[in-house]
Amino acid sequence: SERVFSGVQPTGNLTLGNYLGAIKNFVAMQERYDCVYCVVDMHAITLPQDPKALVDATRSVTAAFLASGIDPTRHIVFNQSRVHQHAELAWVFNCVARMGWLNRMTQFKEKAGKDRENASAGLFVYPALMAADILVYRATHVPVGEDQKQHLELTRDIAQKFNNDFSDRIAELGLGVPMEVGRERVHGYFPLTEPVIEGPATRIMSLRDGTKKMSKSDPSDMSRINLTDTADDIARKIRKAKTDPEPLPSEMDGLEGRPEAANLVGIFAALSGRTRQDVLSEFGGRAFSEFKPALSDLAVEALDPVAGEMRRLLADPAYIDGVLAGGADKATAIAGPVMDDVKRIVGLSA
Ligand code: TYM
Repeated sequence: SERVFSGVQPTGNLTLGNYLGAIKNFVAMQERYDCVYCVVDMHAITLPQDPKALVDATRSVTAAFLASGIDPTRHIVFNQSRVHQHAELAWVFNCVARMGWLNRMTQFKEKAGKDRENASAGLFVYPALMAADILVYRATHVPVGEDQKQHLELTRDIAQKFNNDFSDRIAELGLGVPMEVGRERVHGYFPLTEPVIEGPATRIMSLRDGTKKMSKSDPSDMSRINLTDTADDIARKIRKAKTDPEPLPSEMDGLEGRPEAANLVGIFAALSGRTRQDVLSEFGGRAFSEFKPALSDLAVEALDPVAGEMRRLLADPAYIDGVLAGGADKATAIAGPVMDDVKRIVGLSA
């Protein structure tokens, strides 16, 4: 059966990148799949966090999920640290993943920076925890932005190695299903998860530099639109957003070599649910001084209600904590039996 899993880290303010690249798709996938949406607080502590700020940010991401239209009564919304099976399966996966695989992860290299000797060991094994998040629900589809693609490839590699290494044992215990892996037939317990990286907003760029990803950790607040920005903030940031002096092109190939223009057109398309070509057909030949106010209006129209609803929800932290506790119970009902199976497969005591 098919199931969606995805996660968002509670570190800093959520950006328009998180919203358009991930959360908006989470909402859309609720119609067709059973979904599990997780605030990954254990991933957050791979870098230093202020404990009080982490508690607040966990509630704030939860509020963003709910305010955007994720329904915790029909789907599962919870935070990672409440369901201990994530950590347990991550340990097994630390023993499945190879050092060489983890060494190739570009996000580790970026986040560890020059002083790699001083990075936490958790930051290095971060992708094994991410694989555990997904596979402890045996999820088949994972909606994410482009920056998570390499981690999802690693998730498939881990699932495949686990299935291969334990194939006989999985069959002996009557678990899993027969699967083709290349030319081999194995008895596989974990699905090979599909990344879902779709639409015009899989990689929203900084408003100050069209070659850099929009990020909650960028030192310049002008580089990003935060989910909680006021209408005035949004208008000012878009007005000041970097562009080139040419008018907008009317065809897609006219965006080549114009990263800032391409970014703003992508944002417009994602916010309005239109294609980029459709946006260019309307705005081609017009100046940014005309396009930017239309983009601002659209962004305010989309984000203002979300920000308002987040404020309303965050005024009642007990309600949010109740949602997370209820979600954790539902998550444990799936993750518990999977982890028991894994322990039997591997030869640990369940
Ligand atoms: P995180 O918290 O950095 O980002 C959450 C989601 O937002 C997407 N995103 C973007 N999309 C488009 N443009 C951008 N500028 C942009 N910035 C962020 C991310 O791709 C992501 O989908 N490792 C993950 C969290 C995680 C996870 C998981 C995700 C942990 N376990 C299991 C999926 C499945 C992360 O750090 O996302």
